[in-house]
Order: sequence, then structure tokens, then C-alpha cells
Amino acid sequence: MDTLNPQVLVVGSGPAGLVLALSLAQNGIPLRIIEKRSEFHQSQRGAGVQPRSIELYNFLGLYDEIKAGSIPLLPVRNYKLPGGTEVESVVTLAASIDLAPDVPYPNPLMIGQDHAESILRSHLAKLGIQVERSTELVSFQQDLNGVTAEILKRSDDDKEIRETARFDFLVGADGARGVSRKQLGLTFLGEPTSHHSLIGDVFVKGLTADVFHNWRPSDSKEMLVLRPTEIEGLFYIFLSTANPADYQKISASKENLQAFINATTNRDDIIIESIRTLAEFRPSVRMVNKFGEGRVFVVGDAAHVHSPAGGQGMNSSIQDSFNLAWKLSLVCRKVSPLSILDTYSDERLPVIQDMLAKTVEVHKKMLQGLKNKDVQAAWDRPKSLNQLRVNCRWSSILVDEQVEDHEGAKAIARDAYGSETDDQLRAGDRAPDAPGLVNIRSNEKTSLFSIFKPTYHTALLLNPPDLPALIEAFTHWPSGTVKVVMVLPQGGSLTMDLPEYVAVLEDREGHAYQSYKKIVNGGFHVGMIRPDGVIGGIARGTKGVDTYQKKLFAMKFVFLGQKSSSSID
Ligand SMILES: Cc1cc2nc3c(=O)[nH]c(=O)nc-3n(C[C@H](O)[C@H](O)[C@H](O)COP(=O)(O)OP(=O)(O)OC[C@H]3O[C@@H](n4cnc5c(N)ncnc54)[C@H](O)[C@@H]3O)c2cc1C
Ligand SMILES: *[C@@H]1O[C@H](CO)[C@@H](O)[C@H](O)[C@H]1NC(C)=O
Ligand SMILES: *[C@@H]1O[C@H](CO)[C@@H](O)[C@H](O)[C@H]1NC(C)=O
Repeated sequence: MDTLNPQVLVVGSGPAGLVLALSLAQNGIPLRIIEKRSEFHQSQRGAGVQPRSIELYNFLGLYDEIKAGSIPLLPVRNYKLPGGTEVESVVTLAASIDLAPDVPYPNPLMIGQDHAESILRSHLAKLGIQVERSTELVSFQQDLNGVTAEILKRSDDDKEIRETARFDFLVGADGARGVSRKQLGLTFLGEPTSHHSLIGDVFVKGLTADVFHNWRPSDSKEMLVLRPTEIEGLFYIFLSTANPADYQKISASKENLQAFINATTNRDDIIIESIRTLAEFRPSVRMVNKFGEGRVFVVGDAAHVHSPAGGQGMNSSIQDSFNLAWKLSLVCRKVSPLSILDTYSDERLPVIQDMLAKTVEVHKKMLQGLKNKDVQAAWDRPKSLNQLRVNCRWSSILVDEQVEDHEGAKAIARDAYGSETDDQLRAGDRAPDAPGLVNIRSNEKTSLFSIFKPTYHTALLLNPPDLPALIEAFTHWPSGTVKVVMVLPQGGSLTMDLPEYVAVLEDREGHAYQSYKKIVNGGFHVGMIRPDGVIGGIARGTKGVDTYQKKLFAMKFVFLGQKSSSSID
């Protein structure tokens, strides 16, 4: 990779910045990623990984490591007070769903945010990219051709080195207080929350690691949760009190924290061995009016912050990055026009709006439930939070021939989190998985989710009538941008020779035709799956394929504002 001429500057090495950097790097896009901290943080923070986020880690090739490093979402055990040892109730947080063929990872996982970040960094390192620490974005200026960034590096002996560097694009993954959003002049409207808490990681003796331990004295504002982590003896601590002034005192020393624990649990056998991190957490509920301007974009907390209740924060942040990364890659490779980058904001804004509304709702229900002593209601989470039905059906770069006049896509109702009762499969939806496929040339078993990758589109040909014409249609796509996969129905066989580059799979267990039956039964034989695992196009045949291809790769605007020396490979 050409690391001497980085095209993209990623600012911030939290989950959002790292996922963006890794997706770009896998696409072969030269980049730099800078982090103003001198040491990486060590804390659990946003530890819950939603099913849709697990799928994303799978597409990036990280699933095995994330899985090995995590623990399942455990039930919450509420203790009776006074006494603090007797069980009052046990609440399950996420319904453990049976494995469905199209949903390979139905249940959330828990892995410390620091741990997940280190896995992401190690994969970046394998591609030759190191996060540059003690390196801060000070300011930037953009013009039609690129972005000039002022960067400040602090050396080990604390000398300041200033640098001016030029990039094609800048992505601000610099968190809620980052400079990127501020300098872009995006609004960040919302409200500060009234909800304060102390959050951190502590080593504890005297508690089992099989449940989340929860005590709640009579005042509904008082609460203590100690949640086991993937590290033995380490617990994530969440506490809130009626008087926010207490927080400073409690976090000032181990003894003070111990005194709070003794008092709140009414027990003397829970021993704090050491505090790794403990800090006040006061999330507000805010979001930007758009996700970028010109050649500068914001992802993650830089674009939206919210209550951790319902846990959408980190999950949504990495989904932002995944949505942007493939588009940015195509534009950096100079095969797609700059205008496709506008769809990042168009596709994510309604999702984040919906998400904020949902987390506010969950937060209210939680407080209400706690007040009414109805713990089940308090911990109840709508299923939609697994984000499997999050969609962007309204996006202008989709093609869906099932819907008449998709050009009128703006008219499509926006239901960004999707509905459980909607049984349609549309462009803009998550592409379902299908296991049990067999490659008829190599006889190897595979699944759709092992084929989808962040580096190309996957064209699924589902028993199409005019196969040669369709295969020819995909040769018009820029090289390397699409993988063509012929999926034969269960028991089906190939009646003609196909070029080697077309993968031929048999749907040995029938799951693929089951998952995509809505499409096939309607006479639509092509599903074009985007690099972010979203269905980009649903077509009858070559006409729809060409329409979609033109939307992505139409070059009429391509040189506008790009380096004049550039050319299409
Ligand atoms: C103390 C704390 C506790 C939290 N606890 C929880 C929790 O319990 N549950 C939960 O769901 N969420 C929690 N969150 C939120 C969760 O961590 C975020 O939603 C998530 O980290 C968002 O990822 P991100 O990559 O967008 O931003 P961040 O993780 O905030 O990453 C931004 C990075 O950019 C760096 N940076 C900032 N400015 C610059 C600059 N100018 N130049 C270079 N680098 C810069 C920062 O140092 C930081 O490393 C917590 C956050 C914090 C800070
Ligand atoms: C992600 O989703 C899971 C599953 O619902 C949730 O428990 C977790 O808190 C979320 N994580 C973040 C950081 O938002
Ligand atoms: C908490 O309880 C334990 C056990 O009784 C006791 O040893 C310890 O001193 C108490 N700590 C504080 C700070 O009150």
C-alpha cells in the first residue's frame, strides 16, 4: 500500500475511526489515522455488540477474535434490600433466539471497548497501518480538490512538532467533543440529559461472574450495577445516586467507593480490590444536521450522542463508518463520482433520528419501570434494537424493480429501524445470510456471509432466464468492483459453461432460495449486495443491472473537483 501518499485522514481511533480505517485499508486506500491521546484508553465503556455489529465484524474478518474475546449478554439479578443477598428477581436482557438460517448471530456479545479496539488495531497493523498517537488535528481547510490539515504531534520528550498535510478526504471520528464537527460548522442540537452516573472498571472480590448484579435502594435514582467482563475479577461498574454532588467524593478514593458499596448493597463481602477507571458520565442527546460537507465527514459520537440505555451508541457509530467506507473507497479509486458520498448523510440521518427517539423512549421506560418497581418493564428492550431491520429504502442510489417507479424513492415511507411485521425484502434492507451452499467446482461448503466482503459488490444470480446476457452486463462494471455468484436452486445443475470468475454455488439446503424467495417468486432474479451488506439493487435482468451500475459509476461528474492528473485505471 502507498502509505507515502495517504488519500484519507482519519481523525480519532475510537471504534468508529478504527472500523473506517480498517475498511478503507482492506480496500487498498492509503490513509493515516491519528489519535491525540498518548496512551490508548483502558475501559469497557460501550461493551455490548449488537447482532448487526457482529455481522459487520464478520465481514471485516474479525469474528473469530471478537467471539473468542467476549462473553454472552447475561441476565440481571436484582437483590432484595435490606440484606442485599437474597434474589428479588432475575431479568433476561435479550431474548436468546434460536439460530435462524438467515441470522447467524442472533444474540449480542459483550467485549470491552478497549479489547475490541485492540483487535481492530492489530488487523490494521497487519496491513501496515499504525495509529499515530500523541497526534492531534488542530484545524483544517478544504477546497474543491482536497483538504489541508494542521496536525500537532507531541514527541516523547514533549516537543511539539507542527505539520501541514494534504489529503483528498478527512473523516472526523473524533468523538463528541471533536474539532471536526465544530470546524465544519454543523449544528449539534439536542439537550443535555439530567441523568448523571459514574461508570468505570473495577477489580472486585466476592461476586460471581454469571449475572449482572443489581441493587436499587428505595430512591429510584439510586442504583448500582456490577457486571462481569471477559477479564476474570474485572467488573464494569455503573452507579447513580440522588445527589450528583456525591460523584466526586465517591470517585476520589477506593475507600470512598467501598463505603458507597457497603452502604448501597447492605453487604460487607463485596471487596473493591482496585479501580482501573471511574469517571462521571453524562451523555446528552444530540445529533448533527448532516454528516458531512464537501470532502469532510463525521462518524460516530462526533455526529450523535445519546443515552447508553438500549445501547445503540457504539453500534451505530461503527455502522456509520461501514456505510461511508465503501463509497469513499470507490471515489478514491476514481471509479465513482463524488456525488455518491452525499448518500452517506441521506442514508444515515433518518436512522440516527429514529435511534435517538428510541433511546429516549427506552430511557424513560427504564426510569418509569424502576420507579414503579416493575423491573421487567424497566429492562425490557424492543427487539428492533438488534438493528437487523435498519434500512435505507429511500436512498437515491438504490434500484428496486419490485417497486414501481423507484425513481420516486423519496415517496417511500421512511421507517429506518424497520418493522417486525413487514415481510418484504427490498433494496436498502440488510441482505440475509444463507448457510449450506456448496461450490460445485471445489465441492467446498460456504455461506453468503462468507462471500460478502467490504471490498466489492456481490451479484447474486438466482436462477435467471438469460444467464449469458447477465454475466455480460457485469463486465461493464469497473474491474474488481463486483463478484458474480450464480446460485443454483437445491439439486440444480449447470447447463452451460460459465467463466471461471463466476462462482457457482448450489443451494444444497434451500436456505438461499428461502431467504430470497420474495424476490425470486416475483420474477426478480438478481440481487446486488453492497460492500456494507445492504441490498443495493433488485432487478429482473440486465436492464436493472445497468441502471444500478450507472448510478454507482456514472462518470459525468467524476472529475469535478478531483485532481486533474487522475485517470481511470
Ligand atoms: C468515559 C466514557 C464512558 C463511556 N461509557 C459508555 C458506556 O458505559 N456505554 C456506552 O454505550 N457508551 C459509553 N460511552 C460512549 C462510547 O464510548 C462511544 O459511543 C463510542 O466510543 C463512540 O466511538 P467513536 O469512535 O465515535 O468515539 P470515541 O470513542 O470517543 O473516539 C474518539 C477518539 O478521537 C480522539 N480525538 C479527539 N479529538 C481529536 C483530535 N483533534 N485529533 C486526534 N484525535 C482526537 C479521542 O482521543 C478519542 O480516542 C462512553 C464514553 C466515554 C468517553
Ligand atoms: C450495542 O448493543 C448491545 C445489544 O443490545 C447493547 O447491549 C450494547 O450496550 C450496545 N453497545 C453500545 C456501546 O451501544
Ligand atoms: C466495608 O465493609 C467491610 C466489611 O465489613 C469493612 O471491612 C470495610 O471497612 C467497609 N469499608 C468502608 C469504607 O466502610
